Amino acid sequence: CRVGNTLMPRTFANISDGGQSTVLQFTYHSNAQMFSILKKTAAKCPQISRTYSIGRSVEGKDLLVIEFSNNPGQHDLLEPEVKFIGNMHGNEVLGRQLLVYLAQYLCSEYLLGNERIQTIINSTRIHLLPSMNPDGYEIAASEGHLYNGWTSGRANAQNLDLNRNFPDLTSVYYNRRRFKRFRSDHIPIPDSYWMSKVAPETYAVMKWIRSIPFVLSASLHGGELVISYPFDFSRHPLEEKMFSPTPDEQVFKQLARTYADAHATMSSNDTQRCGASFANNGGIVNGALWYSFAGGMSDFNYLHSNCLELTVELGCDKFPAEEELYPEWLRNKEALLSFMESVHRGIKGTVKDTDGNGIKGAIISVKGIRHDVTTADDGDYWRLLNSGVYIVSAVAPGYSRVAKRIRLPARMQRTGRVDFVLKRVLVEPDLDYFSIPELENYERFDPFNQFGQQDGAEPAEPNEDRSEKPWWWAYFSQMGISTPTWLLRNY
Ligand SMILES: *[C@@H]1O[C@H](CO)[C@@H](O)[C@H](O)[C@H]1NC(C)=O
Ligand SMILES: *[C@@H]1O[C@H](CO)[C@@H](O)[C@H](O)[C@H]1NC(C)=O
Ligand SMILES: [Zn+2]
Repeated sequence: CRVGNTLMPRTFANISDGGQSTVLQFTYHSNAQMFSILKKTAAKCPQISRTYSIGRSVEGKDLLVIEFSNNPGQHDLLEPEVKFIGNMHGNEVLGRQLLVYLAQYLCSEYLLGNERIQTIINSTRIHLLPSMNPDGYEIAASEGHLYNGWTSGRANAQNLDLNRNFPDLTSVYYNRRRFKRFRSDHIPIPDSYWMSKVAPETYAVMKWIRSIPFVLSASLHGGELVISYPFDFSRHPLEEKMFSPTPDEQVFKQLARTYADAHATMSSNDTQRCGASFANNGGIVNGALWYSFAGGMSDFNYLHSNCLELTVELGCDKFPAEEELYPEWLRNKEALLSFMESVHRGIKGTVKDTDGNGIKGAIISVKGIRHDVTTADDGDYWRLLNSGVYIVSAVAPGYSRVAKRIRLPARMQRTGRVDFVLKRVLVEPDLDYFSIPELENYERFDPFNQFGQQDGAEPAEPNEDRSEKPWWWAYFSQMGISTPTWLLRNY
């Protein structure tokens, strides 16, 4: 299924007039060309941009990120951070190109004085990872637009589907729900996960997610035309298509609509569709209702960090013809910008002690939404919310809880500011709330140091001759670690 092929081929487009304009080349870029363009773009806009690598692929290619911010390289107090990830499936290539164009567009428009773009960059820290799977891309690109099959180049060079390779925290969440008081945020990675095969690409992205206080994210895929949002893993083990909402269902829906409505055709019902009928729901769908799978990146973002991630399915064709690239950019440009801007919805603020010091790791709760966010290093937090009236509270170990009632208007121009000052208490108010079972320590990441030092080389299999196995080793090896099986799903 291919989106309309009647448009004139157009490989070059001048994105703006004026001295600083950049000519965007609407062609496919090899990995080397992509790296070069990203670095050149950052060099052209050094005051607002830089590139950095979060790790390497199996075959040693950089997972290169380009960042935009008025203070590149550092987190600014109260400034929300957004990420976009493309090409997680190596043969889904449009998102990768859109992010390369977006990077050039942001740099060029900022220099030209585009007020909207300057406002975005002055108030938001944006990270673009155009290719999470450069090895897979190479396989897909060698076949090209006409011959690339539905799955070749999808997985990484170890044949791992990266969107099935993350720790399955959704099962942990479903288990926890049976208890009266449970947390659905910052669920630790079970030690058993590290006994399975962890792709270096997955490893790099997990580390990235843990090291930056991301608020919002989009993962760009292809093969359908729809926005899907968590959970991706069904709440019923035997139901492969079952509505499985997160506690943030309303927020996710609103974010999904933001992209779909700003996209040229995603929410319209006369668009040629790829097979599924998402149009009558405005071009958005709950992931598990579409098709359930475990080990996905979006569920992981939600349950392990403060970040809300959506999956953007950009179109029926995973590898569109080159002359489709420019029209696709036009269809998606406004949606990408609107989605970035939507990180400024809801509330943000700081949590401090009575001496004015920021409290890291304080918990922000919203009554009626069983999903908390935590404060970053300097005590700042962001809580995406739709309009409405809420009771918001903050608490931290050793401090008393403070609650506030807030009202967010229907037309939110900017994030509401809600700060908290917490008093020290001798008795911890919610002791059991903070207690973490021994095995499930959030700080535990790659506890056996199997993956971190590989730096892109093939991760070693767990060593069978390990002399000092932890006591639970036998238990987990008996259980067996299931490998991803949903290879046929689009994203
Ligand atoms: C963005 O920040 C730059 C540098 O501080 C400033 O010159 C520019 O006027 C700002 N633009 C907007 C729209 O806020
Ligand atoms: C498509 O949209 C039109 C106009 O909003 C509406 O009348 C029609 O019923 C819709 N069709 C479907 C199949 O949803
Ligand atoms: Zn995909």
